[in-house]
Amino acid sequence: MSRPDLTLVLIGFGKVARRFVTLLAETAERLDFSWKVAGISTRHHGSVVAASGIDMQRAIGIVESRQSLDRLDEAPCERRGIDVIRQLADACADDAAEGRLVCIETTVLDIDRGEPAVSHVRAALEGQAHVVTANKGPAAFAYHELEALAESVDRVFLFEGAVMDGVPVFNLVRDTMPAIAIDGFRGVINATCNFILSELECGKEFDRALAEMQARGIAEADPSLDIDGWDAAAKTAALVNAMMGGVITPHYVQRTGIRDLTGLDVREARGRNKRIRLVASASRHGGRVQARVEPELLDHTDPLAGLVDLDNALYLTTDLLGEVGIVQRGGNLTQTAYALLSDVSRISQRLKGL
Ligand code: HSE
Repeated sequence: MSRPDLTLVLIGFGKVARRFVTLLAETAERLDFSWKVAGISTRHHGSVVAASGIDMQRAIGIVESRQSLDRLDEAPCERRGIDVIRQLADACADDAAEGRLVCIETTVLDIDRGEPAVSHVRAALEGQAHVVTANKGPAAFAYHELEALAESVDRVFLFEGAVMDGVPVFNLVRDTMPAIAIDGFRGVINATCNFILSELECGKEFDRALAEMQARGIAEADPSLDIDGWDAAAKTAALVNAMMGGVITPHYVQRTGIRDLTGLDVREARGRNKRIRLVASASRHGGRVQARVEPELLDHTDPLAGLVDLDNALYLTTDLLGEVGIVQRGGNLTQTAYALLSDVSRISQRLKGL
């Protein structure tokens, strides 16, 4: 197959999914696949299913002017995400059978059970679609089940955007570190908390820093997920499940957020040439994995102490390569959208037999 022709289904059409679509258009000449979107499901702006393809400029305009996508549908009706997936798996059965149907899941994180994202992924795989998601829920709550299901139907379940946006973490290990064992990791993996702590160090207020993260679309829809450490716990669970062979959920992670930290605390640490950062870590002890998210007082020589503003970093402890560090200097919407693009490109390469 020279240039695979992919049919995309977008479950969730918020900022990340819309930036993904514009990024596909901007990078068209560099892509190794062509694409159309055949279905979109949103929480607040209706849904549309059109197997022949949707005019995406119009779809983006409609959602950004807070209207309903139903007006693009020939037979508008109330559908949930799962209905859109099933309808398209049926309407695009040939694409699905040939491995050219891809579900892009970008609904918001649900910290109770990872739903409805887990059900979306399951339904898509059952309909023979590949799945790409930036949602942490599926890998954090149901990695092993979904991975086994994907394998059983000869499709892939990819979630590079779940941790550190498009900076390769999962794909780096999968593609370039064969036969390696990851015994643990340590990192700063929540940008919102890192930004708030950096701002507190400069004398700014907690609430103002958080409001800025919300305005820039970096905080979660419910920002308490960031400041209470849940977002980092979900990322930690996804890393433990996918890289360390653990079977945990975010609720297993020992968790303390940054809600109770004050400007005085972080400035006092700075005065002693130290820094407070929200650190996520996991390590193996015998057959058990211990996983934690908590503010740590770091010495200035600690590589995590150099992270400011939106920086993230993850240091993996491996058996054959020692410690491997991955650093992201700042993050934005384009970087999250790029995670989806890079995963879709992997599917295209798989179709080409690369
Ligand atoms: N709310 C998340 C963060 C977004 O601040 O890191 C990226 O996962």
